[in-house]
Amino acid sequence: MSVEDKKVLELQQRIEKIAVGGGEKAIEKQKAMGKLTARERIIALLDPDSFHEYDLFVEHDGRDFGMQDKSLPGDGVIIGTGSICGSPIAIFAQDFTVAGGSLGFMHARKITKIMDYALNMRIPLIGINDSGGARIQEGVNALAGYGEIFFRNTLSSGVIPQISVILGPCAGGAVYSPALTDFVFVVENISKMFITGPEVIKTVLGEEISMEELGGARVHSEQTGNAHFFATSEEECFGQIRKLISMIPPANNIPAPKAAPADPQPQYDITSIVPADPTVPYDVRDVIKALVDGSDFLEVMELFAANIVVGFGRIDGETVGFIANQPMVLAGVLDCDSSDKAARFIRFCDAFGIPIVTLEDLPGYLPGIDQEHAGVIRHGAKMLYAYSEATVPSITVILRKAYGGGYIAMGSRHLRADFVFAWPNAEIAVMGPEGAANIIFRKEIMGAEDPAKMREQKIQEYKEKFANPYVAASRGYIDSVIAPSDTRKFIQHALHVAAHKSRHQPAKKHGNPPF
Ligand code: HXC
Repeated sequence: MSVEDKKVLELQQRIEKIAVGGGEKAIEKQKAMGKLTARERIIALLDPDSFHEYDLFVEHDGRDFGMQDKSLPGDGVIIGTGSICGSPIAIFAQDFTVAGGSLGFMHARKITKIMDYALNMRIPLIGINDSGGARIQEGVNALAGYGEIFFRNTLSSGVIPQISVILGPCAGGAVYSPALTDFVFVVENISKMFITGPEVIKTVLGEEISMEELGGARVHSEQTGNAHFFATSEEECFGQIRKLISMIPPANNIPAPKAAPADPQPQYDITSIVPADPTVPYDVRDVIKALVDGSDFLEVMELFAANIVVGFGRIDGETVGFIANQPMVLAGVLDCDSSDKAARFIRFCDAFGIPIVTLEDLPGYLPGIDQEHAGVIRHGAKMLYAYSEATVPSITVILRKAYGGGYIAMGSRHLRADFVFAWPNAEIAVMGPEGAANIIFRKEIMGAEDPAKMREQKIQEYKEKFANPYVAASRGYIDSVIAPSDTRKFIQHALHVAAHKSRHQPAKKHGNPPF
């Protein structure tokens, strides 16, 4: 064997030793929980043979609590670059088999190195988090590591897409970094996210709670809104990430990958989805599917605040972001959670140059003390801010009801939508005819011989005057009243016309949105 061959053999042996991570026993434990290893995850997610690893030989530098005698292969994290659907990406995956994937100083240095690569190369960053958070034995050095990561998350925000995958029990910094990123993926029974874990809760509050109840995948997908995509297996999760990467731009100065244009599938007939009666619900996702290429819609935050639907589809091969009221859930009203959900999505689209299409059908904001005390004023304002701030092409279609603040908030002309269309059945008014009649004709109704009849008459009067799209159209607030069957055609044309849109905000350091 030549000297060179010996060196290569030695290299392979070194690599193999580190690549086993925390050893067979720890890997067995990982597998028993239904989890892949960090390395297997990267291989499963990326294009075949595309992964290139860096910093494999980095050593931890813990000096206390016996750490100086311990070997932590790769310091518990794998970093590298590869590709998804042919597009380059940067990735890190924490290895729970090595000290619980805990983040020591050198572990953090590896992550920040790949974050810097991602930002400098203008490629998406994917972080697979499976970590007990800051490595307790390293004290403030571990905290410093997280601080460096949070800073870079913020610096990269709006420049490159940042994707977090939660694939284990993630505590402390291992969830705060994901919270700063654009999309968080979780898997049932595997993902757990919390700031203070069950042990701390037991010690401080004396309460017993399971990790699942505290911060399982469903909790974060349905209740907290921390997670954007929910899957039932790691494999399904990786499919979702690949799909998302195929639809969004790799950076804010590069367009999203274009696909071959396709017609929507014929079973989604836009003329028969929305019932004429404004009180009858329907699934607005069917309207989106009737508009997008191949009826292929990638919904974001499907399980959270389902009264609004957001997600990506393509029109003529180009990615578009959809925001749509969902009449099937809470009549599609706006509330704290749906406002937060829509506002963040709009800001992602705007930051990455993705045009926005808004489909509107809502009776207004959800009334009640719960919402008022939960801060619906502050949360609702986020949406007003996000639409007003957006400079990407913005097209709004009023499908049916557009009442009150909802009319303004859902991408109205007044917040600078470029094109506003309404279907002939649309009703645009300060409130629904019933409520309006009760307030402005109260005296007439109360004083009438037959109040019920008078009320009905006044409702009809109000409907005739305002519950149609023509008053708004006569003011130019709506550009065109269009037949439902023409909707895709009008959106296609508007996107074509707005392809080189240029609208600039006044110079400022940054705004101060009601976070
Ligand atoms: C050092 C850690 C660790 C940590 C886990 N381990 N978390 N080592 N620092 N933070 C080690 C364990 O000692 C164990 O080592 C191995 O990882 C596996 O952990 P287990 O506890 O056996 O696993 P499990 O029962 O699945 O529980 C996982 C867990 C739990 C829920 C994550 O380990 C846990 O509660 N860890 C501490 C979480 C935490 O409070 N982290 C600090 C967050 S503060 P051995 O050698 O036995 O295999 C933080 C600050 C950031 O992150 C700043 C925020 C703003």
